[in-house]
Amino acid sequence: MRIIAGPTSTALSRRIAELLHSRIVDVESKVFPDGESYVRLTAPVRGEEVAVIQTLSRPQDTSTIQLLQLVSAAKEHGAMKAIAVVPYFAYARQDKRFLEGEVVTAALLARLIKEAGADAFMTVDAHSVDSTKGFTIPVTNVDASPVVSEKLLEMKLNGASVVAPDEGALDRARSLARFLAGEAFAMRKSRDRATGKIVMADADFDVSGKNVVIFDDVISTGGTVTEGIKILRRHNPSRIVVACVHALMVGNALDRILAAGSEEIISTDTLPTTVKTVSIAPLIAEELSRSA
Ligand code: R5P
Repeated sequence: MRIIAGPTSTALSRRIAELLHSRIVDVESKVFPDGESYVRLTAPVRGEEVAVIQTLSRPQDTSTIQLLQLVSAAKEHGAMKAIAVVPYFAYARQDKRFLEGEVVTAALLARLIKEAGADAFMTVDAHSVDSTKGFTIPVTNVDASPVVSEKLLEMKLNGASVVAPDEGALDRARSLARFLAGEAFAMRKSRDRATGKIVMADADFDVSGKNVVIFDDVISTGGTVTEGIKILRRHNPSRIVVACVHALMVGNALDRILAAGSEEIISTDTLPTTVKTVSIAPLIAEELSRSA
């Protein structure tokens, strides 16, 4: 398998290629002064199975068009099979029509990725089951819990209670809790779809004297986990650590979360980020070796 190193995932691509002993296809890329994207594969891919690794980091729209261009370039240049590996699947939170007149952008992207020529799609902790429903090609959703838990176990958080900031994130919390040998709970959160304002109900579970890990898929502005920390602190936990899979960390999210009382913020390297990361590369490499 050849690894096409998308411009947003060059370091991660190298790690994955090393683990798989695969050759890298470097990508020449630029954004023209008017904002249009250009990509070029710098090595032949004819007859090869390729994994195009391109996370949809900011600016998401540019990253997305580059992904489509790379998948298309691989197939136009004769790749036998192209797996679109998108560690962070942007727009996954728009997995429904929440308000009349909206578009399910996650499903639209699914159609575009297939149309570009992808034979399979792989991502890490997709926001929800609905977010990948639009794909009509095989989908692999890598669970980041094994690598996130390694870091947390190093921090002596075995037995910690894992708290999901909303009920939609409870399965993810349960998965992490299994690795930590702790319990999983969910907070009850609602968001005003027009203003984006979050309302979180008081916790109906007991964390007093316990170590707590708040685990979410995405941290964007930090509003969700900050609200969660404020509520949990009323119940006197012993330690609070925030973990996520995709650390977008918009604006002062990091300072906000630390100021609210989190000891540390742990994330994976699906995105370039300012927080402490643990690499997702081994899990992606393992899945790719299975599909090869
Ligand atoms: C939403 O349901 C997601 O899982 C995250 O909780 C959310 O996107 C985090 O955003 P923010 O950090 O801006 O609150």
